[in-house]
Amino acid sequence: MALALAHKSMILTTLIALLGGAVMVHGSHRKLSTSDNVVTESGVFPSNGDFFTFTGFRGGLSPAPGETAFKTAFVTDFPALLDLGISCSLMYFQPQGVLAPHYHPQGSKLIYVMEGTLTVGFIDSGIKLINQTLQAGDVFVVPRGHIHFMVNFNHTQEAKVIFSFSNSNPGKIDLPSNILGAGIPQFVLEKSFSYYKDEIQQILGGPPANSN
Ligand SMILES: *[C@@H]1O[C@H](CO)[C@@H](O)[C@H](O)[C@H]1NC(C)=O
Ligand SMILES: *[C@@H]1O[C@H](CO)[C@@H](O)[C@H](O)[C@H]1NC(C)=O
Repeated sequence: MALALAHKSMILTTLIALLGGAVMVHGSHRKLSTSDNVVTESGVFPSNGDFFTFTGFRGGLSPAPGETAFKTAFVTDFPALLDLGISCSLMYFQPQGVLAPHYHPQGSKLIYVMEGTLTVGFIDSGIKLINQTLQAGDVFVVPRGHIHFMVNFNHTQEAKVIFSFSNSNPGKIDLPSNILGAGIPQFVLEKSFSYYKDEIQQILGGPPANSN
């Protein structure tokens, strides 16, 4: 066993030595490590504290009034996460800032509110809205693949939150842009949403389409 491991590690060391500079590892999502180097899909890195540190959240974020801003620390931004099954992002919500309905196909999400208050909702499989207004210090979980949204309803205070994901690359499917901006034929959209025309009228502020 020890011999087999030593042999494997020798092969990896040789492989890494041969790989040299910015060489991709194809056909494997595993991170290869020796005492000197770490090989990921985005290159070969010295195995040291810098490799295991993400500095992209320094200085925070500056969303425009009424808007939001975020930065991700996914495996694409932070190669050390490869194969670890975790990642995170930082997000700030100005008063009235909204994170539109979306879902993460590959990961559940924990929301930790550092400052301010944040209203969050997700839709469970029975088309039921599960919602909450979170205070600073609260943690909320959105199960993988569930459509969710967030909004800062406070008129004066910015909300600052950290998201943690159960995947190093959780993915994100944004619903407004994917449904309305992807070129789905107008006939398909009209027929799909026609069953909800009264609800759409109500959202848009007019009377129900069939009332007169
Ligand atoms: C949750 O949603 C319901 C229905 O829209 C609403 O009445 C309630 O105020 C919401 N609760 C929170 C905490 O936002
Ligand atoms: C907004 O946040 C401030 C500061 O925390 C708080 O005093 C105020 O009550 C909040 N307003 C609403 C409408 O929640």
